[in-house]
Amino acid sequence: MRDGEAVGTGRGLGIDADRRAERVRLVEVVGGQTDDCFAEAVRIGLGSMPKWLPCRYFYDTAGSRLFERICDLPEYYLTRIEERLLRTNRREMVERFGTTPVIVELGSGSSRKTRWLLEAACARFGTIEYMPIDVSGPLLKVAAEALTDALAGLRVTALVGDYRAALDLLRKRRECPRLFLFLGSSLGNYERDSAIALLRHIHDASHAGDRLLLGTDLVKDAAILEAAYNDASGLTAQFNKNLLLRINRELGGRFDVGSFIHRAHYDAARSRVEMHLVSRHEQQVRIDKLGMVAAFSEGETIHTENSHKYTITELQELAAGSGFVEELAWTDEAGWYRVQMWRRV
Ligand code: TRP
Repeated sequence: MRDGEAVGTGRGLGIDADRRAERVRLVEVVGGQTDDCFAEAVRIGLGSMPKWLPCRYFYDTAGSRLFERICDLPEYYLTRIEERLLRTNRREMVERFGTTPVIVELGSGSSRKTRWLLEAACARFGTIEYMPIDVSGPLLKVAAEALTDALAGLRVTALVGDYRAALDLLRKRRECPRLFLFLGSSLGNYERDSAIALLRHIHDASHAGDRLLLGTDLVKDAAILEAAYNDASGLTAQFNKNLLLRINRELGGRFDVGSFIHRAHYDAARSRVEMHLVSRHEQQVRIDKLGMVAAFSEGETIHTENSHKYTITELQELAAGSGFVEELAWTDEAGWYRVQMWRRV
C-alpha cells in the first residue's frame, strides 16, 4: 500500500453504507512495512543490554482493546479525570476558534473522550471534519462509524499509521485552522528529548493560530501512580505481556508468558513510572522468524515503557521549547491531571 492511498472507503458498512461511505474515509499512511519494523525493534531491543522494547508496539488490535479496558479500571484515574475535564469545559475549548477548525487527533483509539468535544464543535459550527490518527485500523473504523452515526454534522478521515507519517501528510495540506488533540498523557510515553521532537513535528505540520489540546498526568504520590499501572485485576499485567504474545504470534516467538512478571515502579528522581517484564528464572527463548535466541537470567527485565509525570512549570517549558504558548488550562481539584490548550506561534 502506498502513502495516502484510500483503503477502506465505505466498505462493508451495512444498510446505511452509501450515506456512511460519504462521511467515513480510511487512509493508510504507512507502507506495508510495519511488520518489518516490529521485527527490527524486537531484534534490536532483545539483543541490547539492558533489554527493552518500544511501547508503540503495545497497540496491535488485541493490545488496543486491552488498553480500552484499562481506561475503565478504578485505579486508572487518568482517563476518568481527563474525560470529565473535556466534558465540563468543551464549549470553552471550541470557542477559541473564530472559524470552523479541522480536528486532528494523535492516537485516537476509541475516540471515547473526544466525542464530547466533537459534539460541542458540531453544535457550534454545524459541520466538522475529524481526522483521527491511530495504528489500529480496525479500531479506527469502528470508532469512526459510531461517531458518524451519533453526530450528524461529522465527517471522518481516519489516518491509519504512526504519528510522524500522518503529520508529514498533514503538513502538505493547507486547511486551517486546526485543533490537534494529544490526550491520555501519551506525551509522557516519550523521553523528554523525543517529546520535544514530537511537539516540534506537530508545530511543523501546523500554521500560526492552530491549537494543540494536550492531556498530561501530573507528579503525585508514588502509591497512587503505582496502583494505576499495576491494577488489582491484573489487566495492566495482561496488557504488558501482550507484547510477548505479539512476538509469538507475528515472529514465531516461543515465550512462555507465565514465566514473566509485570512490574510497575515509580522512579521519583526521573518523575516516571517504568514498566518492565521480569523473567522469573533463567531461560532461553527462541524467536524463529528472527533466527535468534534471547537469553534471560533470573530477575532480568525487558523495559517496555516509561510514563513521565509532569509539573506545571515543566509543561510550560515544553510549550516554550516547541513553539507554542499556553492559552488555557484545566486541572481537577486534587491536582492530579491537567489538560492545556496551546496556541501555535
Ligand atoms: N499513555 C498511557 C499512560 O502512560 C499508556 C499506558 C497506560 C500504559 N497504562 C499502561 C502503557 C500500562 C503500558 C502499560 O498512562
